[in-house]
Amino acid sequence: MSDLKATVNTTENGFAVTGNEEIKYSFQFVDNIFDLKHNHLAKIYADWKRVLLVTDENVNHLYSAQWSAYFEHHGIPLTTFVMSGGEKNKTMATMLSIVDAMDAFGLVRKEPVLVVGGGLCTDVAGYACASYRRNSNFIRVPTTLIGLIDASVSIKVAVNHGNLKNRLGAYHAPLITFLDFNLLKTLPEGQVRNGFAELMKISSCADKRIWELLVQNGPALIETRFGRLEGSDPAMKVIADEICWRGIKVMLDLESPNLHELGLDRVIAFGHTLSPTLELAPVVPLRHGHAINIDMAFFVTFAWYRGLLSESERDEYHVLSHSVGLSMDHELFTEEMIISGTKAILKTRDNKQRFAIPNPYGTCIFINDASYDELFKALKIHKELVKQKYGGGHGRDVWFPKLA
Ligand SMILES: NC(=O)c1ccc[n+]([C@@H]2O[C@H](COP(=O)([O-])OP(=O)(O)OC[C@H]3O[C@@H](n4cnc5c(N)ncnc54)[C@H](O)[C@@H]3O)[C@@H](O)[C@H]2O)c1
Ligand SMILES: [Zn+2]
Repeated sequence: MSDLKATVNTTENGFAVTGNEEIKYSFQFVDNIFDLKHNHLAKIYADWKRVLLVTDENVNHLYSAQWSAYFEHHGIPLTTFVMSGGEKNKTMATMLSIVDAMDAFGLVRKEPVLVVGGGLCTDVAGYACASYRRNSNFIRVPTTLIGLIDASVSIKVAVNHGNLKNRLGAYHAPLITFLDFNLLKTLPEGQVRNGFAELMKISSCADKRIWELLVQNGPALIETRFGRLEGSDPAMKVIADEICWRGIKVMLDLESPNLHELGLDRVIAFGHTLSPTLELAPVVPLRHGHAINIDMAFFVTFAWYRGLLSESERDEYHVLSHSVGLSMDHELFTEEMIISGTKAILKTRDNKQRFAIPNPYGTCIFINDASYDELFKALKIHKELVKQKYGGGHGRDVWFPKLA
């Protein structure tokens, strides 16, 4: 939600408007948000006497019985719009189909749409809300680890356009984001691994405590869905909750002063330098977590090569990646890829490299003077190292499962 305060002044040949926009949005941790005993959502939607819920097919399949029972219990009529998931459906057409659903529902100005889904669904539906009457409200319930700890801290909403990822979009904050980590119970392992890579990113560059917890508990965190799977050791949930709470906090601290992404030296850009090009290079795109981890594992080797990280720090990163099944190399990760990836990223970073690199873990520096010669030497060393010590650094579940 935002409020604009503005003053209008007369100038020599016209007017000048100066405004300050106040942006307010909040996050609430609630386990089992659709449990009948809770009234967080009921309180909001009782006022409207109805709710329009937007979700994707998988989440609808898994959770519609729960949220239908919830709204029925609270006497709130529910209308659901189910969008098709997957990057190929992250389009303007899908966004407009949500707009049509809002129109058919007769959404009243300020009436918040309830968006329940992963980062993809909240991006597309959030963009529909930003576009509908230029400013419709929404409530967000993320259902993936990426959605909970990565997309949730951002107010960016977007769709793809042609081959261009997230090329169309807006900045639009939800009123409230409800963070329910119990939704991770049903998340496939490959999706948890994706989110784990984002946590490796943020902690290696900005929070030593999370980094250490990841190093100590990596595989168990993924296997137990961050301690949420039925029968998990309760101690794992405590550890996972600390990691996630700190992860969200550190991302908010870093990115909230940069909501419109004007600052370009971004700690959270670690892993997102060459990966945008690499991710889309194979015929079937790489999973995001694998693409960013190849990028990060390489820059860790580069940092060691430059003398910024010790050998044991370098190995700590690679051993953790290997133990959780994240890729560290790929046949398409080549000198040509480094050139095309660097060229592409320079355009979005005002022609500076701004390579974020942990130095040491928990802190980060930005490199602007890496030559291709140096990068290629580091690449050669990286490939050899990963081959010798980690069987080539091929992760598990690297591609999306084939659609039937
Ligand atoms: N706005 C931002 O700042 C931001 C940040 C990060 C990512 N993103 C975007 O988010 C998308 C990736 O997000 P994602 O990884 O959440 O992907 P996603 O939304 O595509 O979800 C991944 C898969 O998990 C399924 N799923 C979701 N929740 C589930 C649950 N609880 N149990 C079982 N299955 C479940 C989905 O149906 C989907 O098949 C990308 O499009 C990316 O651009 C946006
Ligand atoms: Zn990412």
